[in-house]
Amino acid sequence: MSKVDILMTAPMMPVVIDALDRTFNLHRLWEHADRESYLREIGPRIRGVATSTLYGRMDETLFERLPNLEIVSSFGVGYDNVDVTEAAKRRIVVTNTPDVLNDEVADLTIGLLLATLRKIPQADRYLRQGNWLKASFPLSATLRERKVGIVGLGRIGKAIAKRLEGFDVSIAYHSRTEQDGVAYRYYPTLPGLAEACDVLIVITPGGAATRHLINADVLKALGPNGVLINVARGSVVDEQALIEALKSGTILTAGLDVYEDEPRVPQDLIDLEHVVLLPHIASASVHTRNAMGQLVADNLISWFEGRGPMTPVSETPWNGTLPRP
Ligand code: NAP
Ligand code: 8YV
Repeated sequence: MSKVDILMTAPMMPVVIDALDRTFNLHRLWEHADRESYLREIGPRIRGVATSTLYGRMDETLFERLPNLEIVSSFGVGYDNVDVTEAAKRRIVVTNTPDVLNDEVADLTIGLLLATLRKIPQADRYLRQGNWLKASFPLSATLRERKVGIVGLGRIGKAIAKRLEGFDVSIAYHSRTEQDGVAYRYYPTLPGLAEACDVLIVITPGGAATRHLINADVLKALGPNGVLINVARGSVVDEQALIEALKSGTILTAGLDVYEDEPRVPQDLIDLEHVVLLPHIASASVHTRNAMGQLVADNLISWFEGRGPMTPVSETPWNGTLPRP
């Protein structure tokens, strides 16, 4: 029996490529300079796609070229890189990689929070530049007695909150719906949460629904002792408003893992010595990226063995058959 044709849009880790190569006829889109003519040639044969945010958006234009596509397996828990509404219309299943990265992302978030407050990267630079020989490193801000607000208490938000409990800080949250069985105080509005807290940790999905959720008003409410940590998506924070707030002292500082136009980071942010900037690394350990990659492959294998998708996104739920458009 001939193997199923799968398209990989951008290079992925060996664990994914090896697993897919063993099972499927794998086509590597990035190896073809003339992408359009390559898609014209193989597009009608493709039944599955493995993609990631590295590729850009999987949207109507690409779906048009893949008329027999059944499943898109996306690397990452966030799937704002896939037009899921269009996929659902076409009865294409979309899968992501939830849960396997919760602990890694939560660990990094706590690291980024402490690094930002205690100026750990700045202190490292200070020592390397020989400045310690001249004077002690200046005293820093603290996590002590802070009120932390989590924006988006989902899988990762809860893992962050669990870790924060060990730091003896007060924890509150905002999301669109209040959660049953959660001990943290719920704020139905984001400005309300920002007003009540002096740390905001953002861990919502990206996309249109959360675009610029963190705006000038929210930053003003957070206040001059306030710290913004963004590990969600760059689009969730109005970057220009944040730069203004950091320059004017409207908030104290920020720790960022994600940006509006990655991998381009505004020079204005880079020039701010008191913020901590990471290159989107929250899940980026070998252990966790391998687990995410394995899930990308497993979703495709499960689907084509007739067992359904393992982790379909909510917009393309699976109960044995896809809903009609
Ligand atoms: P999740 O379990 O779906 O949780 C998302 C949370 O956000 C839910 O509590 C949801 O609650 C809330 N939310 C959604 N829309 C909202 C809105 N408009 N306003 C306020 N709250 C909203 O997702 P997860 O697995 O924790 O992942 C969250 C996101 O983190 C991913 O989508 C991804 O973008 C990001 N992420 C980033 C990295 C990184 O490398 N930096 C790594 C992993 C994940 P309600 O529905 O009640 O509002
Ligand atoms: C990945 C992420 O680094 O899971 C997510 O939503 O942002 C990260 O874990 C990213 O998707 C890699 O492409």
